[in-house]
Amino acid sequence: MSILKIAKLGHPVLQKKASLVDKLPDPNIKKLIQDMTETMLEYNGIGLAAPQVHVSKQVMILRIPDEEKKDNNSIEIMALINPKILKTFEPIENDWEGCLSIPHMLGLVKRFSRIIYEGLDMNGNAIKKEATGIHARIFQHEFDHLNGILYIYRLANNKAFGFENEIKKYWKDINEKE
Ligand code: NI
Repeated sequence: MSILKIAKLGHPVLQKKASLVDKLPDPNIKKLIQDMTETMLEYNGIGLAAPQVHVSKQVMILRIPDEEKKDNNSIEIMALINPKILKTFEPIENDWEGCLSIPHMLGLVKRFSRIIYEGLDMNGNAIKKEATGIHARIFQHEFDHLNGILYIYRLANNKAFGFENEIKKYWKDINEKE
């Protein structure tokens, strides 16, 4: 496995729609997912999309939140290929997000509170899930990457964006979300 170089804000690969994966299983996709997993863990991410490692394909991974895991002692990571959002539910919720492609920054981002999504695993098996909370948020963030959309385009408020240190200092209660 290898740690991959992360594309940073301004790189065009982050702003274009990624292409569909047309055949599974594919050893190259499997290797990509393994390398993305190692890269995400190295940089303490909770999700990663292939365009962030300069591969413009519809592949994303996300870390399953602790409260949804079966086994508390392990890290569970799910890979999704060619994902789609089937249904979104209001209310819209605002919460702080960061991104490995926009290091040291945080923004307050609008997301649907609940979604139903589908996709394929690395063997080509169908996955369909309903997600809420942080799981729904991570999915929407990574799904956006596959469509060339960054969280900074979805800020709840133009002023609610800045360096991590300053946000933590001046947005007194970071959970206030206003
Ligand atoms: Ni991101």
